[in-house]
Amino acid sequence: MPTSSITTVSTTPFDDQKPGTSGLRKKVKHFQQINYLENFVQSIFASIGNFQGKTLILGGDGRFYNNDAIQVILKMASANGFGKVIVGQNGIFSTPAASVVIRKNQAYGGIILSASHNPGGPDEDFGIKYNTGNGGPAPEKITDAIYSKTLEITEYLTLDTDNIDITHVASHDLNGMTVEIIDSVEDYAQLMNELFDFDAIRNMISDGFTLCFDAMHAVTGPYALEILENQLGAKKGSVINGIPQEDFGGGHPDPNLVHAHHLAELMFSEQSPDFGAASDGDGDRNMIVGNNIFVTPSDSLAIITANADLVSAYKGKVMGVARSMPTSQASDQVAKKMGIESYETPTGWKFFGNLMDADKVTLCGEESFGTGSSHIREKDGLWAVLFWLNILAVRKESVADIVKQHWHEFGRNYYSRHDYEAIESDSANNVMEGLRNKVKNLINTQTGSLTISYSDDFCYTDPVDNSVSDHQGIRIGFNNGSRIIFRLSGTGTSGATLRIYYESYETNPDNMNQDTQQALDELIKISLEISDLQTLTGRTEATVIT
Ligand code: G1P
Ligand code: ZN
Repeated sequence: MPTSSITTVSTTPFDDQKPGTSGLRKKVKHFQQINYLENFVQSIFASIGNFQGKTLILGGDGRFYNNDAIQVILKMASANGFGKVIVGQNGIFSTPAASVVIRKNQAYGGIILSASHNPGGPDEDFGIKYNTGNGGPAPEKITDAIYSKTLEITEYLTLDTDNIDITHVASHDLNGMTVEIIDSVEDYAQLMNELFDFDAIRNMISDGFTLCFDAMHAVTGPYALEILENQLGAKKGSVINGIPQEDFGGGHPDPNLVHAHHLAELMFSEQSPDFGAASDGDGDRNMIVGNNIFVTPSDSLAIITANADLVSAYKGKVMGVARSMPTSQASDQVAKKMGIESYETPTGWKFFGNLMDADKVTLCGEESFGTGSSHIREKDGLWAVLFWLNILAVRKESVADIVKQHWHEFGRNYYSRHDYEAIESDSANNVMEGLRNKVKNLINTQTGSLTISYSDDFCYTDPVDNSVSDHQGIRIGFNNGSRIIFRLSGTGTSGATLRIYYESYETNPDNMNQDTQQALDELIKISLEISDLQTLTGRTEATVIT
């Protein structure tokens, strides 16, 4: 192997490179510090075992700094001994597509460049994470090792050579390592064709079914245009904001009613198409909306699970369903009735991977607009959209009818999350610490009309490898199935974000059409009292309510 241009660069550690729930996320300017990215990449390579001669997958959501980072990583991958790097054309892979490509090529692992739904641009966020050969986010033992390495790094390896042209599908040699530039969409679209009944969806669309998909100027644009418009025949213009931009058009590429407000307004107007959906910066999140109805991500998981037999690739094959702890218990109700296992895991997709690798679960989801299955090891925005379209094509009913029938059969879990963003870290920690000290004594307390039946700081023991993750959030459960959850975000980049999740369970059909915030009003009041939030943080209102 040619080694002539390999250079060893001396460096000093940064003390803030601890990967969070989804890798390392910082402002672009922070990443642009000399050696900042290089240190982290070398620390990844030092923590993942023997990859000499093996294949790495590389791509990102196309945000500002994506392609600079790709050039840095290509040279370092070559200097460190990878045999091949497969890169998405123009540096693009949605997170789910990267997972597909890792698995399809039986790659050693992949590096995904994304800060997910966080805004992009020179003054906004960038991120990097490592996924293992199963296509999923690296487990904590690897991310912990990466962090340790970042604290002691003294040098890294790179090449002193020109950049590679990543704009064309082609194969290049980079000092003995192959760089293969592939179409970013093809493998992903192929897998979707295998999972879903494209003929049935195409027929529904040619019979007049209308849809609007908001790609939010982010990475799913090319994927959605190819699959929804070109392959499924949705009329031109069904995909909106479909051209990816480095700054997502200045928006916040997070598919919820607040940030995808254009879509939300359309779906609640006279001009509403039959189906609306949106995806985030890197394409792993999804929002599902029908004419005049928003489907909560928790309900979406439950409805997908309850209807899985309508999709042939999943018929009779759903082994279990997993949800993150703050996600509503709607999918538990479905699992109970279907006689399959349900699992409650800490927040973050990596916990689902072990359960899927061990064939314990097939479907999983998070309240934060993430839904997915064992077809890959990431959540998958377009997959969820196609799952819904497949269900709609078979049932030939409206989104609203499907949701309402679901509530009648399984009960309705009213659900909302209130985020208090950019709180001073100390105040946020005080809120959590206060709650932690209180939780044990809350059990059997009567508050208003409700009695607290359990409360704890969620601690998860992985049923596959017995690893323990503690301090995963405060859970307060009530005798009627309602819950309040408090946790701190692991993905924010300024100050701390406190998330409070509310859920109440309603089985009386007469009470199923209330306004969500009203239905949760009592829980909201209780949460503010128990946490002393207003006194400890000075905040009187949530920043974002979803
Ligand atoms: C947020 C979501 C979480 C999701 C993660 C990555 O993390 O709440 O469900 O897995 O983004 O998309 P948080 O900021 O709450 O730690
Ligand atoms: Zn994302």
